[in-house]
Amino acid sequence: MTKKIGILTAGGDAPGLNAVLRGVGKAAHAMYGMDVIGFQDGFSGMVPPRTLDLEGSILSNILTSGGTILGTSRDRPQAMLVDGKLQDCTGEVVKTYRDMGLDALVCLGGNDAQESAFHLMQNGLNVITLPVTIDNDLVETDTTVGFDTALEVAAEAIDRLHTTASSHHRIIIVEVMGKQTGWLTLGAGIAGGADVILIPELPYDEQSILKAIEERSQAGKRFSILAVSEGAVSKDTIQFFEQAQKTNQRLRSGPDRLKVASRLDQIEQRSAGNTIHLANQLEKLTGMNARITILGYLQRGGTPSATDRVLATQLGTACAAAIEAGRFGVMLGVHGAGLIEPVPLEQVSGKFKTVPLDHPWINGARMVGTNMGD
Ligand code: F6P
Repeated sequence: MTKKIGILTAGGDAPGLNAVLRGVGKAAHAMYGMDVIGFQDGFSGMVPPRTLDLEGSILSNILTSGGTILGTSRDRPQAMLVDGKLQDCTGEVVKTYRDMGLDALVCLGGNDAQESAFHLMQNGLNVITLPVTIDNDLVETDTTVGFDTALEVAAEAIDRLHTTASSHHRIIIVEVMGKQTGWLTLGAGIAGGADVILIPELPYDEQSILKAIEERSQAGKRFSILAVSEGAVSKDTIQFFEQAQKTNQRLRSGPDRLKVASRLDQIEQRSAGNTIHLANQLEKLTGMNARITILGYLQRGGTPSATDRVLATQLGTACAAAIEAGRFGVMLGVHGAGLIEPVPLEQVSGKFKTVPLDHPWINGARMVGTNMGD
């Protein structure tokens, strides 16, 4: 009997999503004779179903295009925005899967997509996922589709900022995406020759940054480039919130204590990546001009790199083969030199692959004299 598979892209988009859709769609159809149906705008496209047939000409000319032809959203089956309110729509998603007679659901994306897929697996669906995010922060895979392209974009931005920083003798802070992990900032910072790299995994000390900038000035280098993750946080901020949590523990009890603790957590998260504060501080302490460039969604847009297109094609076609073999409840991870292996979703869901503090990239950066803020 002809197998019928559904596919969707969920969470933040990444360059290479279309190349993955093409890989899955073409291989599933041509090699295994499967029907492939795309759901629009992530999981919300399953409630009620909004679909596109992923066969034939729709899969042509998308290998090189950015974004996702299916559209995406941050909706999750267990928290979907319906009539302005978040609702648990797991039952409706499962019903759509059953009503449409699907044999498998393929979910493409980062942490959000992996968590949602795991949730649907626990609710009895045959799910399989592929790692697609610019953040490269999924565990059990060495890399993710989209990371290489975003790295190129961020590195090129740092290159361009070098010349203007140098002309004006300024400090330029480049804010790079990555709330929980610093892969993109670290990679782009090294590739672009940033003088200071700040990542969430290594809380920074303003005095250490100040010293690095002053040493550069003394050596006649009258500008500095800082690559800063949106989730980078200072040691002072961490200390302040630890103290505030302790005071809360001492002074409050019961629901009051819980409420204040959660409020403090929220404010602490918002204080991360405060590049405006950092720029103001450095301007005050060094007497130099400081400017900020937030790369933001530039890193997610545009055509995927050749490396991402190759990876997307490998993963997409391997996914079709895994479905044919009845391999479900897994993410296909990439190991070593392009070896694709299934990893149980419970090992992936809810976890972040942070940069190990002894990672060779960190060591290399330090050895060429980059200040890591610590
Ligand atoms: O997960 C990818 C990512 O681009 C992160 O680097 C960034 O923090 C986040 O998405 C931004 O999310 P949104 O698209 O919801 O603004």
